[in-house]
Amino acid sequence: MKKALIDYTLRIRLPIILFVGVISFIGTYFFSRAERDNVGYSPVQPISFSHKLHAGTMQIDCQYCHAGVTISPYATIPPVSTCMNCHAIARKDKPEIVRLTNYYNKGIALPWKRVHRLPDYAYFNHSVHVNKGIDCSNCHGPIEDLDGAMQVSEFTMAACLNCHRNAPELLQQSHIIKKGPENCYACHR
Ligand code: HEC
Ligand code: HEC
Ligand code: HEC
Ligand code: HEC
Ligand code: HEC
Repeated sequence: MKKALIDYTLRIRLPIILFVGVISFIGTYFFSRAERDNVGYSPVQPISFSHKLHAGTMQIDCQYCHAGVTISPYATIPPVSTCMNCHAIARKDKPEIVRLTNYYNKGIALPWKRVHRLPDYAYFNHSVHVNKGIDCSNCHGPIEDLDGAMQVSEFTMAACLNCHRNAPELLQQSHIIKKGPENCYACHR
């Protein structure tokens, strides 16, 4: 009787348990893959700001808001005062704009959630790329078609190096003749 039970456990139960275990591991691995690479990440923001409306429909230049791109490593997120250049008047009775104005009047910075983030040990600089004529969309995709900002491309080391090695062919439109650096110290300084 006891032997039969052990037998049953070994022959039927154990394989089922292992099978379920393996399947759920593989499932989780693949389904969470994008999340780990961060592709598709689009957090809910404190104000429902839309790139589609501002950069797409209204065609406001990216640099009007991301003023750092040509002069510093960081693109920078605009302060509320930049929004108020228009929203002191535009749509000022709409609930979202009333909330926006409250932040401004209280002098509180908007707690925007960061979408892209490289680990601290990797160095990236916007100005060197943008000043060579590399378009934002090469790395950020068609953000002017999206309501909420989203990470579109992988920012892995392999992705950086892929463009650095093939820049002249990949970026024909922007007259790039030089490749990007491949030595470790350029990005890990
Ligand atoms: C009217 C101002 C405005 C304009 C114009 C604008 N943006 Fe933004 N952008 C913002 C704000 C505010 C955020 C932060 C909220 C968010 O992530 O949606 C942001 C976020 C982003 C992010 C994500 C930043 C992060 O957290 O990693 C990217 C990338 C970006 N913008 C690219 C662009 C590009 C490319 C253009 C031009 C096609 C553009 N933006 C035009 C205001 C603007
Ligand atoms: C150059 C002018 C301009 C700037 C700068 C600007 N906006 Fe706007 N925004 C507008 C206009 C105009 C509309 C209305 C467009 C429409 O509905 O057709 C609008 C619409 C909006 C709406 C939707 C309002 C509603 O419910 O109808 C939100 C939210 C918003 N803006 C947030 C922001 C934030 C946040 C910033 C700063 C990061 C910003 N805007 C910067 C001009 C601007
Ligand atoms: C060569 C690729 C590349 C190009 C071109 C590029 N970006 Fe970025 N962007 C990145 C990377 C990588 C990060 C994450 C940086 C970090 O975490 O330190 C980033 C982060 C950002 C951020 C959030 C952090 C910050 O720096 O303020 C904004 C906003 C942004 N980019 C806007 C833009 C705009 C606007 C353009 C075009 C004018 C642009 N980017 C062009 C790769 C690029
Ligand atoms: C779309 C193509 C492209 C992508 C993607 C790209 N780069 Fe570059 N990068 C270039 C080119 C082209 C240069 C060379 C510019 C020049 O000096 O002519 C460059 C230069 C650099 C430099 C040298 C400039 C300096 O500040 O010393 C660094 C560092 C760098 N890239 C880091 C990165 C990192 C990190 C990533 C990934 C997050 C990345 N790049 C993604 C095209 C790219
Ligand atoms: C063009 C920029 C660039 C160059 C050149 C580069 N790296 Fe990286 N590296 C990155 C970025 C961005 C990350 C972080 C993203 C990631 O995890 O893929 C990274 C991550 C790493 C990591 C952590 C990997 C992990 O999986 O956590 C190691 C280790 C590393 N790099 C070593 C090197 C060495 C060694 C070299 C020289 C042979 C080198 N890198 C050259 C951009 C670069």
